[in-house]
Amino acid sequence: FPMPALTRRAFVASAAAGAASAMLPLLRQPGANAAAMREVRLRAAPGRTQLAPEPFGETSAWCYNGTVPGPEIRVRQGERLRVAVENGLAEETTVHWHGVRVPNAMDGVPHLTQAPIAVGERFVYEFDAVDAGTFWYHPHQRGFEQVGRGLYGPLIIEEPEPIRVDRDVTWVLGDWRLMKSGEISDDFGNRHDIHHNGRVGNTVTINGRVPDSFAVRKGERIRLRLINTANARIFSLDFAGHEPIVIALDGQPVSPHAPDGGQVVLGPAMRADLIVDMTGEPGSRASIVDRFYQGLEYRLVDLAYADAPLRERAPDWPMELPANPLPEPDLNTASRNEVVLTGGMMGEMVAQDMGESVGPGAPGGMMGDMKPGGMMGDMNSMMGGMMRMMNSGAAWFINGVAADEGSHVMKPMLTLARDKSHVIAMTNATAWHHPMHLHGHSFRVISRNGQPTRRREWQDTVLVSPREKVEIAFVADNPGDWMFHCHVLEHQAGGMMGVIRVA
Ligand code: C2O
Ligand code: CU
Repeated sequence: FPMPALTRRAFVASAAAGAASAMLPLLRQPGANAAAMREVRLRAAPGRTQLAPEPFGETSAWCYNGTVPGPEIRVRQGERLRVAVENGLAEETTVHWHGVRVPNAMDGVPHLTQAPIAVGERFVYEFDAVDAGTFWYHPHQRGFEQVGRGLYGPLIIEEPEPIRVDRDVTWVLGDWRLMKSGEISDDFGNRHDIHHNGRVGNTVTINGRVPDSFAVRKGERIRLRLINTANARIFSLDFAGHEPIVIALDGQPVSPHAPDGGQVVLGPAMRADLIVDMTGEPGSRASIVDRFYQGLEYRLVDLAYADAPLRERAPDWPMELPANPLPEPDLNTASRNEVVLTGGMMGEMVAQDMGESVGPGAPGGMMGDMKPGGMMGDMNSMMGGMMRMMNSGAAWFINGVAADEGSHVMKPMLTLARDKSHVIAMTNATAWHHPMHLHGHSFRVISRNGQPTRRREWQDTVLVSPREKVEIAFVADNPGDWMFHCHVLEHQAGGMMGVIRVA
């Protein structure tokens, strides 16, 4: 497989990016580089799509450009992207570029960074592709329904010189709650989903189809870009004897390593770039299985080996990706900000119950790792949580506040000094997992339950287990008001969001 020739345009782009980063952070370079402008048009509108195989019929969904997922947008790092979004839905919408460090006005949050795109109207987003990596786009308006009906798509920002692989493959993982008719159940935002683990569906798709098999050849090396676009489903993928190597998380390079515990864990909105060497025998099949929900194993897809091998042994090409231009936080000068997550059914845990039995990064089960004592928690605090829930209709709280996207006023929960380093120490005092996402920045995950993490990985969404404490650190170099929220979209709708101001 030949390396793509370095085109003149790409060379100019990377040279410009290199020169720019030597002088100024890339984020402050609106349109200043000489790279190509890519123009894309996205139209959000109802459509029909074949999710499940025959004999199931088509399903009514909401689509970008008539498909689920929407088109894969691919640009080179350093290029500029302009996306004209047209709203063909019967309700307002926006588009958020998940994980991309865009200027605040391009972030796609209704009432915070822009007015919603009215029915029949359009909005043009424009930003530089600062970081190479695997990202995605989705609405930020009533996400629990708009995303749940199919509005999302992959955004791939290529390295100027991608690492060598035989195939670069994107798998957009989708999760649907389908009825027997094949149509989407329209119980979006019901109280049960909001108060428990969100809208976990019954049908998982890869790139908008229930897959049967994925054809591979022995000896083949695939860069597999996984994107979890599910409203609420968490994946813990077992690659059936294959040994995937993680090379990036949430788009940001990590030093290549086997996943902890052997399985690739992806909360909603999270991405992993894997190198998978196809080590099976010609003619064999192997099932990739999701084991997150204990007792509910889900066969995602079979790897189906062709009869002819591509090569006898896996290649030994380098896997390490070049770093992105992220500012390094200084923990000695960082401000410290405590964030406590509360709410949900089963009450809240009290502080002394925290952090005793959940190992660092342990995915745990839905409720499987709760001790009976811990589950009851402190009666008073549990009753307090229930009372607040009943009184307000809100379900989830960040530092005691349940925000309301529809209220059109979101006061900042934190104000962080611009260009300074900050630590956010999150305590999950609930019985549920929360993939916590910060807009406009990537952060290092520096500790779990007081233990420093081994790789201090850069992420934009961190999965926080029940009762876990997680610390993140970053330089607040992107000015504006940024959403900080749980990416279980029903939890977000139930109040688990806030605004962090960088000024
Ligand atoms: Cu994927 Cu606030 O978004
Ligand atoms: Cu949550």
